[in-house]
Amino acid sequence: MGSLLANKNILVMGVRNKWSIAWGIVESALKEGANIIITYQSEREKKGALELGGHSTFQCDISSDQDIDNLFHAIKEKYGVIHGLVHSIAHANTEDLQNDFIYTSREGFSHALDVSAYSLVAVSRRAKDLMSEGGSIITLTYMGSEKVFPGYNVMGVAKAALEASVRYLAHDLGPLGIRVNAISAGPIKTLSAKGVKDFGNILDTVEVKSPLRRNITQDDLGKSSLYFLSDLSSGLTGEVIHIDSGFHIMGI
Ligand SMILES: NC(=O)c1ccc[n+]([C@@H]2O[C@H](COP(=O)([O-])OP(=O)(O)OC[C@H]3O[C@@H](n4cnc5c(N)ncnc54)[C@H](O)[C@@H]3O)[C@@H](O)[C@H]2O)c1
Repeated sequence: MGSLLANKNILVMGVRNKWSIAWGIVESALKEGANIIITYQSEREKKGALELGGHSTFQCDISSDQDIDNLFHAIKEKYGVIHGLVHSIAHANTEDLQNDFIYTSREGFSHALDVSAYSLVAVSRRAKDLMSEGGSIITLTYMGSEKVFPGYNVMGVAKAALEASVRYLAHDLGPLGIRVNAISAGPIKTLSAKGVKDFGNILDTVEVKSPLRRNITQDDLGKSSLYFLSDLSSGLTGEVIHIDSGFHIMGI
């Protein structure tokens, strides 16, 4: 066990089950001595989050300001201070990931943007008050924000908004010693990913065409997150870094 995150309280939002990217991050952070606080969305996800073992867990639906306020109030009472926040949450309506993008409804567009992008702004605003010793905020994005991946659709638009939010938040929070960055992850089989049409094709393409000739793993993301969450990245903020076997550099 290392000590990169010893005595650091890290809030991880978005653990659904053991396949979640957020869970890979938790496992790596635990090995480096972090105290982990996990949130789950609702009673439906509670069992999965609790099964993963002895961490502090809180319910929080990120589309509810009341839930977010309650969460940060409870964390303040129990911990006083946090040093890291992992935002690993996104959602779009199933039909908006199955139909062509042009058919996205007004409601579907706002839902995807609210849960997947605005939520980072909402939690960062509350987190800053608990990051009195400085801190690191990370979120998870995907290359569908930069290029068209048919089927990723409104989620690509939401990820573009998320990445722009990272830069504006980095500017606002920098003077407080709080850094904000995004990991642009390669495709990984998770429950959320299953909702994207032809996701299997995306995985196959990365395996064949990426410089590393393989898909990334939860462990790759977990280890990389240690850099973002720890002092190792003390000069880095406002950045979107691809952890994707190098796929994003390819033209063909
Ligand atoms: N899996 C991939 O290929 C991939 C690639 C790049 C980026 N990402 C991003 O990684 C993040 C995590 O996704 P994942 O692939 O681990 O899937 P996942 O299904 O395991 O995690 C998604 C999480 O979002 C939570 N969530 C959704 N709506 C919520 C709400 N209203 N309130 C609170 N929580 C809510 C779910 O409960 C779940 O815990 C997402 O932002 C996703 O877009 C995933």
